[in-house]
Amino acid sequence: MTPLVIAPSILSADFAKLGEEVVAVANAGADWIHIDVMDGHFVPNITIGPAMVRALRPFAKIPFDVHLMIAPCDPYLAGFAEAGADSISVHVEAGPHLHRSLQAIRALGKKAGAVLNPATPVSSVQNVLDLVDLVLVMSVNPGFGGQAFIATAVEKVAELKAMIGCRDIRIEVDGGITPETASLVAAAGADTLVAGSAIFKGGPTQYASNIVAIRAAAAGQRGRDAA
Ligand code: DX5
Ligand code: ZN
Repeated sequence: MTPLVIAPSILSADFAKLGEEVVAVANAGADWIHIDVMDGHFVPNITIGPAMVRALRPFAKIPFDVHLMIAPCDPYLAGFAEAGADSISVHVEAGPHLHRSLQAIRALGKKAGAVLNPATPVSSVQNVLDLVDLVLVMSVNPGFGGQAFIATAVEKVAELKAMIGCRDIRIEVDGGITPETASLVAAAGADTLVAGSAIFKGGPTQYASNIVAIRAAAAGQRGRDAA
């Protein structure tokens, strides 16, 4: 079974000390660092750019999972790749040519992801499965941390799992992930869980136990060897 990945979203970290926060969650057991990039255009919020990814890169060895919520995305792919992203995910609606964007990410030597908004059907990635390393199912509308989990994401994960079959593609879920919702999406087939507020709540002394709680809840639904 694909190893479970827990990816803390630094959107919920203390932005005044992001380097320390990345160190803290990495030491607390994070598998990846999830970086939410927003442009105030594709989504109604503005966060960080390639310069911040580059600045954070020396603070951890674990993969940087860059989630682009920007449109257009193509002009910025090389910048994020050069800044230190390991995977780059783009929304299906971020440009007119999803296939070309995914090809470009692969050509940069990075893992490529396609992102489904809550209203985006699973079928929208059916014809790009040979170009993706992960499909990210949004379980909130993108733009902000701390929103409530949208339950229809569970059915979408199951549908995606069936479509992916035996292909080597991760199913990532992002938004409103807590131990409770983690168990639901893991049971449906998710193997990569993003969590912001549920991991960063309580400050650095709580990060390890917050990660363990999500990992244990998800692993319990995947079988004994999953974690
Ligand atoms: C939302 C972002 C998420 C968000 C998750 O647009 O893509 O990564 O930070 O935050 P929580 O876990 O608080 O919903
Ligand atoms: Zn995200």
